[in-house]
Amino acid sequence: MAAFHSPSTGIVLFLLVSSSVATLSDGNFYQSCDVVWGHGMIQEGGQLLTLSLDKTSGSGFQSKDEYLVGKIEMQLKLVPGNSAGTVTTYYVSLYLILFLDEIDFEFLGNLSGQAYILHTNVFSQGKVNREQQFYLWFDPTADFHTYSILWNPQRIVFYVDDIPIREFKNLEFLGVPFPKNQKMRLYSTLWNADDWATTGGIVKTDWSQTPFKASYRKFEADACVWSSGSSYCSPHKDAWFWEELNFGKKGRRKWVQENYKIYDYCKDTKRFPQGLPTECAFSNLL
Ligand SMILES: *[C@@H]1O[C@H](CO)[C@@H](O)[C@H](O)[C@H]1NC(C)=O
Repeated sequence: MAAFHSPSTGIVLFLLVSSSVATLSDGNFYQSCDVVWGHGMIQEGGQLLTLSLDKTSGSGFQSKDEYLVGKIEMQLKLVPGNSAGTVTTYYVSLYLILFLDEIDFEFLGNLSGQAYILHTNVFSQGKVNREQQFYLWFDPTADFHTYSILWNPQRIVFYVDDIPIREFKNLEFLGVPFPKNQKMRLYSTLWNADDWATTGGIVKTDWSQTPFKASYRKFEADACVWSSGSSYCSPHKDAWFWEELNFGKKGRRKWVQENYKIYDYCKDTKRFPQGLPTECAFSNLL
């Protein structure tokens, strides 16, 4: 996804009339997002957005707003059939050359009938190496499912259909950088990555299947919206600002982590011969 960071076209002034928090509850893509690359299309009066990929180009869209902290939700239906080699990304990011902050979902396509990999990552202040990968417990191409990114001052949580699959806590007091001080935008792209995406790049994209299509609907952002240097935010009133995992949600996270997680950088001792990153010692104490 680092390959695609379209420079924003300038400051988008999005006036919020109702309250301090942007709740785009009607999910209208005309109001909330711009297709900024390739053959993306907004349809059904703004209720549906599709990205497509063919040999000539991938495609992408981004939110008009930028956010300091918040909860972003979207329903996605991924490329069906033989999607090997394709990658669908869905992430919030601020790209500065030195200090990349980014919270990522990436969906790595596969041959028909074989499982997608859901790849997650957290970058803060340019520090990378925080991947966790999962299989899903459903076919993500058969129907729409909700994927959410929560990032508030205490934690980042990745949700799939309201099940927290991963939590990354704010451990700044231990010197672990945490992305909360820079405005971030939502981005999503569909592109060809058959040099690495499927089974490590062995399985190539089958271009006779094109165009590949991924669909989106019901985008919601409950967030501190950044505007001209200040943010519209009185977050102490808002549930997402304080959101944490209660007992039930921790149980569901455990279920996913034990049954569907296929890679965890915190278990990859070969990769970190000098010792695992600081936060790894705490990831089991949550
Ligand atoms: C694709 O399917 C193969 C075989 O089942 C599996 O090993 C792999 O993890 C799957 N996902 C990707 C993205 O390669």
